[in-house]
Amino acid sequence: MTRHLIDVVDFSATEINAILDLAETPISDLRQPLAGKGAALIFEKPSARTRHSMEMAVVQLGGHPVFTRGEEIGFDIREPVEDVARIMEGFHSLIAARVFDHSTVTRLAAVSSVPVVNMLSDHSHPLQAFADALTMRQNLGDLAEKTVAFVGDYNNVARSLAEISALLGMHVHLASPPGFEADEAELERILLLGAASVEQGNRPIDMVVGADAVHTDTWVSMGEEADKAEKLQKFEGFTVDDTMMAAAGTNSIFMHCLPAYRGFEVSADVIDGPRSVVFQQGHNRMHAARGALAFLLGDNA
Ligand code: CP
Ligand code: NVA
Repeated sequence: MTRHLIDVVDFSATEINAILDLAETPISDLRQPLAGKGAALIFEKPSARTRHSMEMAVVQLGGHPVFTRGEEIGFDIREPVEDVARIMEGFHSLIAARVFDHSTVTRLAAVSSVPVVNMLSDHSHPLQAFADALTMRQNLGDLAEKTVAFVGDYNNVARSLAEISALLGMHVHLASPPGFEADEAELERILLLGAASVEQGNRPIDMVVGADAVHTDTWVSMGEEADKAEKLQKFEGFTVDDTMMAAAGTNSIFMHCLPAYRGFEVSADVIDGPRSVVFQQGHNRMHAARGALAFLLGDNA
């Protein structure tokens, strides 16, 4: 049966570790599962990291990436999502999409005979989470019982990070302003995935205490530009700055999926400071993408 990468929870903890191991496997030791094959990469939203890391991962596995802007494809405008999947599976061994509406990637996956990869939706960003876990593992060692803190909007990036952290047995701390938090059912779901513990609060300084890794993301995600003024006001006090990193502890690392808005979700001192691993994390997007694609395409024996 075709495996898809729609969410982190499509994979078990064992499979996630296998993907992280494949991400660190020399390219010369991987099969070339995409040799002579194509990969459709469709973007309804802008991207720097995801486009480049996925294009390079496809090339490193022997394939040819074909980038197309969402407007050209016109999901449900030019033709139904399902027709796009049925056409692309005839050309390509992989269909990847960055979409506004999560149901677009689930609908692609429902009919596609080739793997479908979610390159970010309003709901989740699993490829980012694989790079986040890889980066934490490289800096912190075995992640079981380590503590991850996410400060900011409980958005697509936060959800996928919480899922992968839970599956790897971490303590998960979340700090969001009222109205931008995970609800009770979501906290329960994260706990049941295997988190060592789950805590959520409205005071970020409390939630980062003891964190081995402090993460944040933009307060205004793509597609939410109309809410910007309101969100900037509601997120006051949620900037990850030196005071917050001091509360986290002296060995804690700072992470951000990027792009970052200095002076808003993170101070320049922190993101450009010695505890920041954001560029290692960004570069890991390519290694994690290669590991995930190698796994999906059969390097998972
Ligand atoms: N982190 C991330 O997904 O970056 P891009 O939006 O540039 O792809
Ligand atoms: N939460 C952000 C992530 C960008 C990589 C967004 O969806 O725009």
